[in-house]
Amino acid sequence: MNMHATTHDELHAEISDRFDTTAMATDTTLLNPRFYTTDFDELDRIDVSPVRQDWDVLLDQMRSDPNKGHFKKNADWDKIDWEGMDPELRAEFIDFLVSSCTAEFSGCVLYKEMKRRGSNPDICELFSLMSRDEARHAGFINDALREAGVAVNLGFLTKAKKYTYFRPKFIYYATYLSEKIGYARYITIYRHLEANPEQRFHPIFKWFKEWCNDEFSHGEAFALLMRTDPKITESFVNKLWIRFFLVAVYSTMWVRDHARVHFHNALGVDIDWYDQEVFRKTSAIARQVFPVELDIDHPAWIPNLKRIERAFRKIEAGHARGGFGGWLSKVTGGAQAGLAFLRLYTLPVRKNELPASVRLQPMY
Ligand SMILES: [Fe+2]
Ligand SMILES: [Fe+2]
Repeated sequence: MNMHATTHDELHAEISDRFDTTAMATDTTLLNPRFYTTDFDELDRIDVSPVRQDWDVLLDQMRSDPNKGHFKKNADWDKIDWEGMDPELRAEFIDFLVSSCTAEFSGCVLYKEMKRRGSNPDICELFSLMSRDEARHAGFINDALREAGVAVNLGFLTKAKKYTYFRPKFIYYATYLSEKIGYARYITIYRHLEANPEQRFHPIFKWFKEWCNDEFSHGEAFALLMRTDPKITESFVNKLWIRFFLVAVYSTMWVRDHARVHFHNALGVDIDWYDQEVFRKTSAIARQVFPVELDIDHPAWIPNLKRIERAFRKIEAGHARGGFGGWLSKVTGGAQAGLAFLRLYTLPVRKNELPASVRLQPMY
């Protein structure tokens, strides 16, 4: 073994020691991606006849598997110098990959379970196709982590991670949003790096374009599921729930992204701009199915997102500090986050007339 190899292995081992990615993925805090379970029998009883025509077109497209050969490393996969990467960037980038991998795998686990438990052929086929895609997505990210010596143990994760129960309608809102946000995030980064290729510090971003089309289709499927029953999106109470999920999902994304300053600097992305851009795209798409839309241009929107972010930093600092002072930081931080959340939740919303035809094509 030559000197260089020793140094390389030592550094590799140092990275592996520093990042217990499986523990990072298993840890379920308010901000980490979760694993979900639901009432699979209720989901299985959905009758897709009201949206049959659109359903068949979408399922045909998913069956044809346009991304079958996409998630493989090829000549475009440049070699990455993990050891030479700025340590702060490396830490945030690994955190980004782990949280993306967890989110992708969360979809895989939920969709596969629905397919396994169900007996409705329409539902089973859809969920089987979606879990096929998410398994590829999670696997591809994990390959990138493996090169740094820090792959997530996905088998362990399935058993060890806590599952959050959501009623089917909450699964629709949360999953629809996360699929469409996933699309908007991937395509926004992809377009930015297309214009600024010198800032693409890792090859995985080159795969985002075809990738985001999978997420777009998954979102379409949930839009159709919601359209099978007008009550799911149109009743008074459910509109309030949709607002709640919009605020919760958007503000979580804001806090999470703002914790990765070095990562976004390396990409040359202004985080405020990026998040607003993702919200804007997601909100425009969601007009296909949500009758209410958050006003992200309201003067109180960004200031209250920033208040939530500051409150979360305070809670984190309280955790780290411990003792009475730490407890006090957690309590006041929690109250401040709650108030800011309430303010966002009660901002006036824009109302949408749902279009006659629900289906959309990726347009960004
Ligand atoms: Fe995915
Ligand atoms: Fe997806």
